[in-house]
Amino acid sequence: MRRPLVTAGVLLLTLTGCGGGESAGPELSVSGAYMPQPVSDMAAGFLTIANKGDEDAKLTEVTSDLGEVTVHESDGGAMREVASLDVPAHGTLVLRSGGSHLMFEKLPQKPREGQTVQVTLHFTGLDPVEVDLPVKPATYRPTSGN
Ligand code: CU
Repeated sequence: MRRPLVTAGVLLLTLTGCGGGESAGPELSVSGAYMPQPVSDMAAGFLTIANKGDEDAKLTEVTSDLGEVTVHESDGGAMREVASLDVPAHGTLVLRSGGSHLMFEKLPQKPREGQTVQVTLHFTGLDPVEVDLPVKPATYRPTSGN
């Protein structure tokens, strides 16, 4: 596990070089959230998290009234659960169809188009962020460029 140490070192340098004034730390906003209407007892959730802050944020957990949620990465045709995903400083974390996504399993009921699913995103050292996922048609694809 050498990589987190390197990251921490880079962060420290960035902070020291900053000179103060503005409060440092991640500044998160979420956009483009949706869930394609599920066709089984599993569903996916997609969204974009932007970080305007000077520090990386780490998404470590997602919870929902709708039951179990995990964060998945796609690797070729397969997907696997990941423990966390980084939202880089001045960058974005994009969860999209074919890429990383939220995975809902063993749905107690299937949300339908027009409904809204609420999830809470948990980040290391930050307040949780609540996000509404509007349920879209199963075949919905967001238009690119927004
Ligand atoms: Cu998945």
